[in-house]
Amino acid sequence: SRAASPLQEACEPSSYSDDESTDIDWNNIGFGIRPTDYIYITKSSADGIFEQGQLNPYGNIELNPSAGVLNYGQGLFEGTKACRREDGRICLFRPDQNAIRMQVGAERMCMPSPSIDQFIDAVKQTAIANRRWIPPPGKGSLYIRPLLIGSGPILGLAPAPEYTFLVYSSPVGNYFKEGLSPLNFYIEDEFHRATRGGAGGVKSITNYAPVLKALTRAKSRGFSDVIYLDSVHKKYLEEATSCNIFVVKGNIILTPPTSGTILPGVTRKTVIDIARDHGFQVEERTVPVEELLDGDEVFCTGTAVGIVPVGTITYQGKRVEYKSEGQLVSRELYSTLVGIQSGHIEDKKGWYLKI
Ligand code: COI
Repeated sequence: SRAASPLQEACEPSSYSDDESTDIDWNNIGFGIRPTDYIYITKSSADGIFEQGQLNPYGNIELNPSAGVLNYGQGLFEGTKACRREDGRICLFRPDQNAIRMQVGAERMCMPSPSIDQFIDAVKQTAIANRRWIPPPGKGSLYIRPLLIGSGPILGLAPAPEYTFLVYSSPVGNYFKEGLSPLNFYIEDEFHRATRGGAGGVKSITNYAPVLKALTRAKSRGFSDVIYLDSVHKKYLEEATSCNIFVVKGNIILTPPTSGTILPGVTRKTVIDIARDHGFQVEERTVPVEELLDGDEVFCTGTAVGIVPVGTITYQGKRVEYKSEGQLVSRELYSTLVGIQSGHIEDKKGWYLKI
């Protein structure tokens, strides 16, 4: 057996009791906000160092009307999950990866960021404090949302003078109303998600409101989500609004590279590893839209989304159908991930942090 990962060594397992119940129907939770008990919160001092955070009762936060985040969108968010295992333990999925991504994003957005240890500790404290909201095994997870925002007042355009790092959570089930059934995606050719040199490669809050127009339009036409193409040639696959995209062609799995305009998803990275371990040849390279349309199977990955097959893609009025029954590559990869999470498959890479 291999040594525990540095992440596992850093955090001592803690005991907890699950005697507090909730009145949630765990079979019908979907993906929506349900207030839990506590949020973790800390502010930066003038030198950009975050003080020791505290758990406060869940509720509204107070912001100055001229806070940098409200006026100039200086903010980042993260998404990670805590799950309950059959042995009663709670585990977090690769929170170190979210911590690193927040640091990279903070550098891009001119913000100080919490240290990796502080980030992981904040996520861990939030999960433990809200443990009664973690669904039973197999019913979903506690979605944990770390936020880093310019909370200090500023009028002229500049980095804010103070920052708040907070973590809240909500119990969630499937992201899409289709559950884990094949999705219907629409390729957008009017709007783009990101441009070269922009902030599409970090989890800036500014990446999300601009895609609402394309997303609500597609949803009103019955699609599950929108796939964006690159803004220069308008022909290369980027990502969907809420997730990364993979195309399967025989034994080859293609996905666009994280070269600045798409989000380096934690699930994306994990799926690439699992697929290679399963003997697939994974190519991270530019994928022309024709190659996407010509794939055998398409699937999407994300923290909120999980790993879900895409059954159809509509592009310029043409609807393409993909394999969505029988043995799917996406289901094979998903069962491995779930197997590692539940403890039925050995976690050789130390992805799950038990708390
Ligand atoms: C996540 O997958 O955690 C995200 O942040 C995507 C968001 C659109 C829900």
